[in-house]
Amino acid sequence: MCGIVGYIGKNEAKDYLLDGLETLEYRGYDSAGIAVLNKEKISTAKTVGRVEHLRKEEAERPVHGSVGIGHTRWATHGGVLERNTHPHHDKSKEFYVVHNGIIENYEEIKEFLSKQGYEFYSDTDTEVVPNLVHFHYQKTGNVLSAFQAAVQTLRGAYALVLLSSHDSENLYAAKLSSPLALGVGKDELFIGSDALPVAGHTQDVVFLEDGEIAVVNTEGYRIVDITTKKSIERATEVIEIDSGDGDLGDFPDFMSKEIHETPATVRSAMLGRLRADEQIVKLGGLELVEDQLQFIDRIIIIACGTSYYAGMVGEYLLEEIAGIPVEVQQASEFRYRQEPLSRSTAVLVVSQSGETADSIAALKKLEGSGILKLGIVNAPGSTLARMTDAGVYCHAGPEKAVASTKAFVAQVTVFVLIALKLAKNYPKFSEVVKALNVIPQQIEEVLKLEKDIAKIAKEYAHHNDFLYIGRRYAYPVAMEGALKIKEISYIHAEGFAGGEMKHGPLALIDESFPTFAIALSNDMDEKSFSNMQEIHARNGKIVTLVDDKNSPSAKLAQDIIVIPKTIEPLQPLLSSVATYLFAYHAAKELGRDIDKPRNLAKSVTVE
Ligand code: G6P
Repeated sequence: MCGIVGYIGKNEAKDYLLDGLETLEYRGYDSAGIAVLNKEKISTAKTVGRVEHLRKEEAERPVHGSVGIGHTRWATHGGVLERNTHPHHDKSKEFYVVHNGIIENYEEIKEFLSKQGYEFYSDTDTEVVPNLVHFHYQKTGNVLSAFQAAVQTLRGAYALVLLSSHDSENLYAAKLSSPLALGVGKDELFIGSDALPVAGHTQDVVFLEDGEIAVVNTEGYRIVDITTKKSIERATEVIEIDSGDGDLGDFPDFMSKEIHETPATVRSAMLGRLRADEQIVKLGGLELVEDQLQFIDRIIIIACGTSYYAGMVGEYLLEEIAGIPVEVQQASEFRYRQEPLSRSTAVLVVSQSGETADSIAALKKLEGSGILKLGIVNAPGSTLARMTDAGVYCHAGPEKAVASTKAFVAQVTVFVLIALKLAKNYPKFSEVVKALNVIPQQIEEVLKLEKDIAKIAKEYAHHNDFLYIGRRYAYPVAMEGALKIKEISYIHAEGFAGGEMKHGPLALIDESFPTFAIALSNDMDEKSFSNMQEIHARNGKIVTLVDDKNSPSAKLAQDIIVIPKTIEPLQPLLSSVATYLFAYHAAKELGRDIDKPRNLAKSVTVE
């Protein structure tokens, strides 16, 4: 879950390394470091904290050189301390390594190396790697074969880049289950743990595959198989990635900016895909598999986090509109389940980043099974986008705040489009199309409520707990709303289906345990009202999200938020935005670091 960069060329390596690490901070922001080679001497700059601290540190003690590596860390082994910050080096500081992933057999290797007289300064699994390379280098005097031998011993998951004082002409990279991209420029080569940092410099990118080592230099790259050592030919591909301008404009942080981008997100997800007048949904990404789709009688949606909750909305949409049985599973469960799958099942992965380790592993499990792999992915060119047989991009643009908002809205929009595309004789087709077309304006209406929502959120921000409830389409939104407030404000929150209240959660309710109830108009009105009565009778405070201020549910609430009316399948597109504003302002009231909440990362690239 860490970010990796590498540079070899004619320019100061640190410029790319520091910018690249900033781009990769979504992968972790516990600590950061760079190592740069200059005339056989490697200098480092390292700090606990953000890349901006590293910049300051480097400015005070500059490192110069045109070959280097860098890393932004999300701690797995060992605390957030300077000694655990990458790049890690061997005992004689000849080999420096940055690593993303987990070396599962590091204790074994450490024990072996200790017996050979090696000593260790950090608590990380990574530190064994440069020492193991050093160990092998003593025997061969060749950096590539030492790296190869070391990597062959490693078990687990890794993306590694090696810098050696013995070789100013090359950098060495290896990959197993953790992505690594090489960007080929003119007389320079850029490495990134994904294509994002590379994208600002070159569009010519090659992705390493599992079990490969790359030797990179100013002339290009050579790929070899780790085990057979045979060369592998792979041409670059042209990628078009918007790495994001990083410009906040007038917004105080990216989460606020991204919430306010949700109307544009829906427009962009629909652009050129929904021909309202002709009642046609055109999804170019699915055209290749259109014939296969005719035979699909079951869809399993797999995802993590917010994407999982978008998947739950997708389940309701696909079942109601397209009439296809759907099941949603967390990727971390799906990957280990012994589930019989028939060839008429399609697996649909949902991911903002396209780099989530569990989702990647879940798709990998299907390799060779003949099961159709579909994707709803936001990041173009990402691992999941490349692993799927077909899919639909979200077109939400880069999302930078750790807590996902606009990606959820885009994913749900895409689900509506896919459901319409797969619909056969759905009687309310034109009603959905008509309603979808006005959703962007309606979200704008929700955004105009920000001040009112902020006022309510501030009142409730000092509670320790929150319950979120909703039924049917509002149930996944309740889960997502609870996740959001938990992520950014650290208030304990749980999302439940309203019907489950009596099966446990009701025991929690008293005057100090408030509920956020999503009670928008639909044929579940009476049921939602009953849930609220039960809470009310136990002195529970209620914030209710309604689309009719005169509804019975509104009358039972201490505070109400009134959003525009739409048809039930599209309600999540409006209600989610209201819950985002609520969570955002609760977190703001508590003075939290909204874009980079503690202990989390934007993209969970290790299990
Ligand atoms: C992390 C992020 C979440 C995100 C989840 C799944 O937990 O903090 O915001 O929903 O990963 O990520 P993906 O990129 O696969 O959608």
